[in-house]
Amino acid sequence: MTSQEKNAAHEAVYVASQPLPLDMQPVRGYDFNQGVQLEGLLDAYLTSGFQATALGQAIEEVNKMLRWRMSGEPVADTDPDEYRDPATRSNTKCTIFFGYTSNLVSSGLRETIRYLAQHRMIDCIVTTAGGIEEDFIKCLAPTYIGDFALSGKSLRERGLNRIGNLVVPNDNYCKFEDWMVPILDAMVVEQEQEKTLWTPSKIIDRLGKEINHPDSIYYWCHKNNIPVFCPALTDGALGDLIYFHSFRSTPLVVDIASDLRRINTLALRARHTGMIILGGGVVKHHICNANLMRNGADHAVYINTGQEFDGSDAGARPDEAVSWGKIRPNASSVKVYAEATLVFPLIVARTFAHQREEELAAARNSS
Ligand SMILES: NC(=O)c1ccc[n+]([C@@H]2O[C@H](COP(=O)([O-])OP(=O)(O)OC[C@H]3O[C@@H](n4cnc5c(N)ncnc54)[C@H](O)[C@@H]3O)[C@@H](O)[C@H]2O)c1
Repeated sequence: MTSQEKNAAHEAVYVASQPLPLDMQPVRGYDFNQGVQLEGLLDAYLTSGFQATALGQAIEEVNKMLRWRMSGEPVADTDPDEYRDPATRSNTKCTIFFGYTSNLVSSGLRETIRYLAQHRMIDCIVTTAGGIEEDFIKCLAPTYIGDFALSGKSLRERGLNRIGNLVVPNDNYCKFEDWMVPILDAMVVEQEQEKTLWTPSKIIDRLGKEINHPDSIYYWCHKNNIPVFCPALTDGALGDLIYFHSFRSTPLVVDIASDLRRINTLALRARHTGMIILGGGVVKHHICNANLMRNGADHAVYINTGQEFDGSDAGARPDEAVSWGKIRPNASSVKVYAEATLVFPLIVARTFAHQREEELAAARNSS
């Protein structure tokens, strides 16, 4: 080898680096010599790389939604007094649109979602039919941990249904029917006599009132006046019941257009919005589309396993929504590629629940 060849190879391997931007973070994970501390562990995710960093960014993003107050924005002379007075600026806090797929209510994430509704930490919910009925069914009878590998044929013979590695006895749906039919009867009477126009959000609110059970997400949404949107309300056991009920009485009419006005108006009138969307499909798009009415959301956190190579909306990254005006171009957003039951409780622990713990501690110290 000539020295010329050796120098060329050396230069090829050791290309000089340009200086990096000063704000770039070095990679560093959690040191368990500091003990087992949940907060420290979660904070170290941000600088751990890969999806741990995305999780850390999602925590930061949700905390930005929670911290957002009008103080961050100039107040115009024309703004109403409630926005001008620092004491009441919390009224203008970021409106949080929260969405999740049905299976997450079948899972133990239901308890995390219920916590958020119980403490009024989100402003509206979008889910699919299973995300409504599974919450009420769980108040009537449990869902069980099973196995992804349980045989469909054998489960069918035993009257058991599988959702991933969860098992729901068919009897649970019979109990749901027994509970629902008198409520459907009453709703049809109100439709006939009082001319009530039932929207999915009104139906869910009514069911939340009727279940009257503190384990239920929608019991708390009813108590706390949190609207729950479900544009595809009929695609589940609720739809089966509405179908069978239509043969025994005047059919229930469900108006989805009024709910569309309701969610779009909520977005349009919000001063600042954030989207937290677990999973994809209808729930993801419905929230993004409502935010289009206001030229896009200010913050977005997606947690899903969807991929974009197939062109699906479920797999689309936040940047695709920017192109449609559903997320603002200057918004900060993050997609965590993960299964939601694994990561969402961790996010809640370091955001909503952490903030509540701090507020409770401050209240204890001042009393
Ligand atoms: N328990 C149930 O799952 C259930 C029960 C009754 C009816 N249904 C009906 O099935 C239909 C389809 O359900 P859907 O629209 O709620 O969503 P889905 O289950 O079809 O999921 C849509 C997408 O969300 C993502 N996703 C789903 N689960 C995820 C997870 N755990 N973590 C991360 N990403 C995840 C994936 O990309 C998936 O392709 C709906 O109409 C629903 O009402 C579902």
